[in-house]
Amino acid sequence: MIAEKLRLGINIDHVATVRNARGGAVPDPVRAAMIAQAAGADGITAHLREDRRHIRDADMAAIKDAISIPLNFEMAATAEMHKIAMATKPHAVCLVPERREERTTEGGLEVAGDDNRLTDYIGPFKEAGTRVSLFIAPDQRQVEAAARIGADIIELHCGLYCDLHDEGRFDERDAELGRLTAMATHAHGLGLEVHAGHGLSYDNVSPIAALPEVVELNIGHFLIGEAIFRGLDASIQEMRRVMDAARA
Ligand code: PXP
Repeated sequence: MIAEKLRLGINIDHVATVRNARGGAVPDPVRAAMIAQAAGADGITAHLREDRRHIRDADMAAIKDAISIPLNFEMAATAEMHKIAMATKPHAVCLVPERREERTTEGGLEVAGDDNRLTDYIGPFKEAGTRVSLFIAPDQRQVEAAARIGADIIELHCGLYCDLHDEGRFDERDAELGRLTAMATHAHGLGLEVHAGHGLSYDNVSPIAALPEVVELNIGHFLIGEAIFRGLDASIQEMRRVMDAARA
């Protein structure tokens, strides 16, 4: 079943990045989550990184308590995060690769080569009723491994597509869009729910929003930046408008 309405998850990590630049309490990511919810967001995503560079443990708990829309807890597949996420009981966990030195999540999760460990890792989440999403590149091996280990969702990494678009390398962008399109279809055929995210903006979102099998986009950095100029609620509402226009 292909959903008509495309859900929009708002990643609020970079509100915490700005807060942490000064070490105080503002801007508060919980307030951002509440504004996003009121502006029509369908979910809130937050990434508790090992180095706590933006979202911190207390933020995650406070966001969970404050919102009534789903919380998507983004995390590396480590023992520490397993414990915290099990205690937080989010709607979903999204497993991502994480390297200390990276500026943002580079590349997708290696599922195919780590399937036995990941099967054990996600088992308790599935038993607890928490949905499991894997953030992967549009790569057939990874899609098939995600289905094999029993993930509920894949989130397709749009970072390369967005970079190629933003750099004006349109032939290469179109090739990457072709891979995203094919893997969205393949994953859907295997019974996986398909999400997409990373690097999306008003300018590059439309071809991704138009993919019929994609039912949710997760967007952060661009919208938090845009919020400086037009406010968070207006920034989200404009993204909603662009996504819906592409979907129609
Ligand atoms: N989805 C996942 C799994 C991510 O890791 C990120 C970045 O943290 C996003 C979506 C949002 O990406 P961006 O901040 O570039 O919009």
